Amino acid sequence: MTIQAGGLADVVSGAVAAHRGEPGPLLAILHDVQRELGYLPREATALLAQELNLSRADVHGVVTFYKDFRDTPPARRTVRICRAEACQARGARDLVAHAEQRLGVPVGAAAPDGSVELGQVFCFGNCALGPTVEVDGRLHGRVDAARFDELVAD
Ligand code: FES
Repeated sequence: MTIQAGGLADVVSGAVAAHRGEPGPLLAILHDVQRELGYLPREATALLAQELNLSRADVHGVVTFYKDFRDTPPARRTVRICRAEACQARGARDLVAHAEQRLGVPVGAAAPDGSVELGQVFCFGNCALGPTVEVDGRLHGRVDAARFDELVAD
């Protein structure tokens, strides 16, 4: 994804304006910017630091501390599998092994061509319906190997 400089500045300014006056707005603004751009490019965090009168190191520290933020573009498809206890008890470990084999990437990595990335999460809050898998931002419960293959087939 190529982001035009003006577009990026507009996204950052819009997010800052949307949270103006709120106490400690940095996290909310970062979420907004990431939702718009797909990730938090270095240029965006630099602009944000300037707008909020923070240091770049402060903003970068927050981005790298929270696992939900990313500073690199996402793959075209993202798959995340829950590996917390309830899902593990329902087969998540085997499902991770199947996913790695099916997608050809280890968990925590992206395919070199940027087509897909496979991540892990420790609870989506969908525990009763595990194993839980998120594909391109959409949650799916009771996913077995066959269902997984359907979900990533497109
Ligand atoms: S343990 Fe998997 S969604 Fe909660």
